[in-house]
Amino acid sequence: MKKAIVITGAARGIGFAFAQRLAAQDYHLALVDVGDIDAAASRLAAGGASVSAYRGDVTKADDWKTIIDDVAAQHAVYGLVNNAALFASLQVQAFDTVDPTEWMKVMEVNTLGPYLGVREVVPHMRQHGQGRIVNVASTSPLKGVTGMLHYVASKGAVIAMTRSLARELGAHGITVNALAPGFTLSDGIMTNTEHVELFRDIGKAGRALKRDQQPDDLVGTVAFLLGKDAAFMTGQTLVVDGGSTFV
Ligand SMILES: NC(=O)c1ccc[n+]([C@@H]2O[C@H](COP(=O)([O-])OP(=O)(O)OC[C@H]3O[C@@H](n4cnc5c(N)ncnc54)[C@H](O)[C@@H]3O)[C@@H](O)[C@H]2O)c1
Repeated sequence: MKKAIVITGAARGIGFAFAQRLAAQDYHLALVDVGDIDAAASRLAAGGASVSAYRGDVTKADDWKTIIDDVAAQHAVYGLVNNAALFASLQVQAFDTVDPTEWMKVMEVNTLGPYLGVREVVPHMRQHGQGRIVNVASTSPLKGVTGMLHYVASKGAVIAMTRSLARELGAHGITVNALAPGFTLSDGIMTNTEHVELFRDIGKAGRALKRDQQPDDLVGTVAFLLGKDAAFMTGQTLVVDGGSTFV
């Protein structure tokens, strides 16, 4: 039985980069996305990875149950990377123009989604006496970025959830940490010219390391948090942004 890592939002962008990196290790990868996840899984399988693909919506408890039941029937559920979120498709706007329906949608995907995932994997992790949860947050709530209040609020919640879950789950040998990326040229971002124009150059200028941030810049940290060297770390938020935010 292989240790399975469930990665949400793995069809493209940062989630796919995580999967590519973790495919080099002896994990089974369970990739989840509302988008075309089969193509992503096929690419990894062609390289020899142990991988399964699930078309699912992280905001649907039934989808989570179907996915995790299937993974647990064949593998030991060991890791969860809550990466799926709404960000790249959002418009930059003043705080007082955010539509309440859009606010709730962002909260649903970015906070309810990870919560439902954690709720589904934890019974299996408890059974094995170990587990690793990595929540993808953002530096935006640490810096107080303007123009996306709903998104910033959702990622602040992800950091808060990470801390409380770490305390609730530590007794079961389960670690919960957050990874906070800076502005990253993911597939989703590269399709949003407004984001690229507004944030790319300003992001680069504000970093100690003066270059673009790519999805590959994040993969080592997620591999570390899932690996044995991070066994005694929990509740932490690791910033990876080329030295823009100092915590
Ligand atoms: N790109 C950045 O600048 C940046 C910065 C900080 C944090 N992040 C975070 O990194 C993560 C990945 O971002 P990205 O830029 O790669 O995004 P992306 O838009 O390129 O990819 C996100 C993936 O999530 C999937 N997804 C969206 N809603 C879903 C749902 N309800 N159920 C299942 N899958 C769903 C999408 O189909 C897509 O494949 C997100 O949590 C994002 O908030 C990104």
